[in-house]
Amino acid sequence: MSAFSVLETTAITDIWFVWRIIPMPASWDEVAADYDRSVGETGDFYHRIFVNPAIFDILGSVKGLSILDLACGQGYLSRILARAGARVVGIDLSEKMLEIAQASEESEPLGVRYICCSSADMSSIDDSSMDCIVSTFGFHDIKEIESTIEECGRVLKKHGKLVFAIPHPFSYAKRHEDEDGFFLKIRHYMSVREIPHPKYKETSVVAFHRPLSLYFEKLFSVGLRMVAFKEIVTDLHRGQPITDKRLLAFRREIPGFLVVGLVKTQ
Ligand SMILES: C[S@@+](CC[C@H](N)C(=O)[O-])C[C@H]1O[C@@H](n2cnc3c(N)ncnc32)[C@H](O)[C@@H]1O
Repeated sequence: MSAFSVLETTAITDIWFVWRIIPMPASWDEVAADYDRSVGETGDFYHRIFVNPAIFDILGSVKGLSILDLACGQGYLSRILARAGARVVGIDLSEKMLEIAQASEESEPLGVRYICCSSADMSSIDDSSMDCIVSTFGFHDIKEIESTIEECGRVLKKHGKLVFAIPHPFSYAKRHEDEDGFFLKIRHYMSVREIPHPKYKETSVVAFHRPLSLYFEKLFSVGLRMVAFKEIVTDLHRGQPITDKRLLAFRREIPGFLVVGLVKTQ
């Protein structure tokens, strides 16, 4: 199916799969199958160990809540949320990611509704209709982050929560070593930069380094207030305990991931 075509809308009992016009081809299509292999049904190591415990801690019980999984990818988190009793809508720009998500929905129907659209224009989602928005490893991959945040402000109910996880902006800096151990050398922090995606360097997939103030100024401007801010450090490397004392000291000092919770106050 062409990314430029006007796509169809189908309703199958209580399961909805809505396709919309997509303004540009989504580069994540290129890596969707590979991404699905690494994420599977449970999330990959980074989801499971670092990010999801913090996300669920901030979310609390999701039973009965309407939740938007923003940049849902192949939908593993949408399904976890639906199994926990939430009414879930997953949106993503990549048709291929959503084909995988929809195939899972068909083999285990959980009532998740997937919409192929940009987070910068979620016009098929009503104003003030969502209790929560969750986004894991999405915000740093989205080019139009400012309009995405405006859309989050629009679709969230008053007192609704936005929880997102991104690689910590420090994680794009190069690691160096001297006689005192490992350290980061940071030449640019305030400049927004498009960078090859760390996981898919040989492809067209890109990510964006942004200073944290860029995210937060916009988030605050749409009436969101921060309620949780978790900078995540670890004693593990690819799931294994770190034995090198210098590397362990570095990993305990420099956060790899950031998980943030905000509440809509207006
Ligand atoms: C690293 S994947 C994360 C997927 C999923 N949230 C997870 O944690 O496995 C990033 C996703 O962002 C999606 N994405 C990038 N830009 C987007 C946009 N403007 N609107 C919606 N999704 C977007 C990509 O298609 C991709 O599926």
